Amino acid sequence: MPTRPEAIPVLDTLDALEAWRNDQPGPVNFVPTMGNLHAGHLALVEHAAGEAAVIASIFVNPAQFGPGEDYERYPRTLAEDLQALASVGCDAVWAPDVATMYPLPEQSRYSVLPPAALAECLCGAHRPGHFDGVCNVVMRLFWQVRPQRAVFGEKDYQQLVILRRMVEEFSIPVTIDALPTVREADGLAMSSRNRYLTESERAIAPGLYRVLGTLAEAARERDPGTFEALRLSGMERLDALGFKPEYVEFRNAENLGPPDGKNDRIFAAARLGSARLIDNVAVTRQSCL
Ligand code: PAF
Repeated sequence: MPTRPEAIPVLDTLDALEAWRNDQPGPVNFVPTMGNLHAGHLALVEHAAGEAAVIASIFVNPAQFGPGEDYERYPRTLAEDLQALASVGCDAVWAPDVATMYPLPEQSRYSVLPPAALAECLCGAHRPGHFDGVCNVVMRLFWQVRPQRAVFGEKDYQQLVILRRMVEEFSIPVTIDALPTVREADGLAMSSRNRYLTESERAIAPGLYRVLGTLAEAARERDPGTFEALRLSGMERLDALGFKPEYVEFRNAENLGPPDGKNDRIFAAARLGSARLIDNVAVTRQSCL
């Protein structure tokens, strides 16, 4: 008889999580998610598996959605997610409800505030408070799970930079690993929000990555002082393809400051129908030697 992967324990109270945590003989690796898992998430779990037990969290965090955003309609697919996690060797799932994660009303809670220079540019300029919500939930998740390693995707690159800084500033004893964006065959970055695309929008969507790729390529040959013209041409090209671009920006990959010609990335967000797509591509400098 074919063997089925064993059911993964789904922990939904802090006591259950603590009991599981105390049962682990060694360190624990962690993949935080909001569920509706795709191959990008599973790659993070596969990376986390191996020398340590792996726990993934599934929690659609209301604090990182703004008014009028997609909190209510964000896809919740726990049964499918558990099957997918079992197939890649995940050992447990932390799936608290909102009252467990946030027992107190917003005005009574402690919170962490990421620095404006990191959190109010790029996506933060268009989603005010979004990264406050991300930091607050990830801070809680880190102390609840106490992982030795946490794994994030580069698709949410700004989130990654902000969380790395949070870990450094607060000396949180966790190592953050980042994995490259996993893409569909046509280049579209995998995202739970891709399911909001209609068939015709889905055909347009890979254009975002193509435009960023072309801009990154062009930027490799240029001085950062000339990136503004590239940036504007990127906005125009996205617009011509049928996107409503929010921003296209070159930034330093480490601190999200102005590009310096050494370690830059190009970032973009664009609306397509009811979906908001984001992507980013490295502008790797060619060696002069
Ligand atoms: O990247 C995500 O899915 C979320 O922002 C995270 C890190 C799970 C926090 O809710």
